[in-house]
Amino acid sequence: MLRFDGRVVIVTGAGNGLGKEYALAFGERGASVVVNDLGGSTSGDGSKSSRPADEVVDLIKSRGGKAVADYHSVEDAKAVIQTAIDNFGRVDILVNNAGILRDKSFVNMTEQDWDLVHRIHLRAAYLLSHAAWPYMRKQKYGKVIVTSSTSGLYGNFGQANYSAAKMGLVGLSNTLSLEGAKYNITCNTIAPTAFSRLTQDLLPPGAEENLKPVFVMPLVLYLCHESCADTGSLFEVAGGWIGKVRLQKSSGAMVRRANAPMTVEDVRDNWQEIVSFAKPLYHLTQADQVTHIMNAVESITNTDQANSNVLTET
Ligand code: NAI
Repeated sequence: MLRFDGRVVIVTGAGNGLGKEYALAFGERGASVVVNDLGGSTSGDGSKSSRPADEVVDLIKSRGGKAVADYHSVEDAKAVIQTAIDNFGRVDILVNNAGILRDKSFVNMTEQDWDLVHRIHLRAAYLLSHAAWPYMRKQKYGKVIVTSSTSGLYGNFGQANYSAAKMGLVGLSNTLSLEGAKYNITCNTIAPTAFSRLTQDLLPPGAEENLKPVFVMPLVLYLCHESCADTGSLFEVAGGWIGKVRLQKSSGAMVRRANAPMTVEDVRDNWQEIVSFAKPLYHLTQADQVTHIMNAVESITNTDQANSNVLTET
């Protein structure tokens, strides 16, 4: 059994849905849990309540676990991290999970809808990770999870604000995984689908039974366990199915020719090759991507050189 004894975990938005399942499971497996939740509405409007966080804390304690409630908004990131330090003396695991929705067709989306969704999802994940980072660096151990969405990966009608923030989290995680490597800090991204108060009106019939939040929980806990070294990865997870997602590109075409201007028509004439995924490529690092481009450019220079040799010889 994978255990978390001695580890301190912060789960944001842990009063409901997915976060609640993570918090309960961490508590059952020996971690000290900060149950963060401001007890707000799904849109971030209206009154707040300490009840969701308190109920989860009570459940963890009633099962013999260790937990403390934190009612700050994730925007008060330093205060959230401080709750872990004050109560348990460290922070090992940060699960960025809290979230809201303000769905509107793009034409009707206000700046407030855009900004609030970005603040709670993307900016708060930055603030929280940034506040936890010095502790994780110092102890040379940390596990960070960010929560993206298939709405970001594939787009979704009425969610321009949410999609953009959720894709931003993928970029954040990609870079945190690189910067954390030296300090044994991993950062991974999940794009879950689960029946919750956030999605109950959006998912098809049968979702309540088949897409329970508890079916997402095991992946998150595994990624946060000391035995899992994976970092910089992105996973789709729903209903018990888990798959890793990566960016892919076509093998493309070098449309520029030696000693000739590059034209719009060169693009048109090579379009099929540019967009064909017959031989897909993917890169694990940006350095791989740069090498690929430099090789492609070199192939023109070589051709150029070859051409000039031919010209000299003839
Ligand atoms: P939920 O609405 O059941 O739980 C979210 C919790 O976050 C709530 O308890 C809420 O009070 C809390 N919260 C909201 N704003 C907060 C703030 N400023 N500070 C602290 N807590 C705050 O939603 P669910 O479905 O469990 O979603 C969890 C995460 O998973 C979200 O980031 C969501 O965008 C993401 N997600 C969920 C999907 C799903 O199918 N349920 C799909 C894709 C992503």
